Amino acid sequence: MNRDVIIACDFPNAGETLAFLDKFNGESRKPFLKIGMELYYGAGNEIVKEIKRRGHKIFLDLKLHDIPNTVRKAMKVLSALDVDMVNVHAAGTIEMMRAAVEGLTREDGTRPLLIAVTQLTSTSEEAMRRQLLIDATIGDTIIKYAENAAEAGLDGVVCSPLEAGIVKEACGRDFLTVTPGIRFADAAADDQVRITTPARAREIGSDFIVVGRPITAAADPVAAYRRCVEDFTGEL
Ligand code: C5P
Repeated sequence: MNRDVIIACDFPNAGETLAFLDKFNGESRKPFLKIGMELYYGAGNEIVKEIKRRGHKIFLDLKLHDIPNTVRKAMKVLSALDVDMVNVHAAGTIEMMRAAVEGLTREDGTRPLLIAVTQLTSTSEEAMRRQLLIDATIGDTIIKYAENAAEAGLDGVVCSPLEAGIVKEACGRDFLTVTPGIRFADAAADDQVRITTPARAREIGSDFIVVGRPITAAADPVAAYRRCVEDFTGEL
């Protein structure tokens, strides 16, 4: 699996998304894109199909979490959309994650990559203890959830780039780490707290970095994307 930069297309509608993508029309390298809940619930399968038609790979970031049977059937529908990466909450249990793999797998044996969310970065240890009655450190739950995902046959996890190394230690070098929280060294952190640069993310062991505002809000998004790819992959 080649490491790659995934642009988070956090736009509210299809019009703004496609206007942004038009800037990349002259590029030979079509960026890998992340479509999240806001855009998917607003613009639906049509935007997914249009972006695939333009030749981009898609990470459909819908974070499924339901009973195994429902997740299996929902994943079958997403798999037919021909997206390249999807995700679930590891909190749904190993049984749910196994059902997700089954649902995603097409008749010819192929399937999109399947990644688990471990603990959301918005969840604090305090909230885990008081609200969820989980008496463990966040770090321990991240490793345990990643191990559960590996046991269920998933391809990797979403995690902080700073955790990519320990996840690889626990789950093996081939277990993918998909990491948001990326900023250029000379840029604002925005609302992200635990951040690192594309080059440092590569050193720690990220396979995919998810980059939003440093590219989408840049004065020259194409130049920012190229800089990210060069720093992270060493290519271009
Ligand atoms: O604009 P920025 O680079 O901060 O965007 C990062 C993207 O990654 C957003 O789509 C955000 O929702 C997502 N994300 C994150 N932290 C997580 C999981 C997802 O920033 N733990």
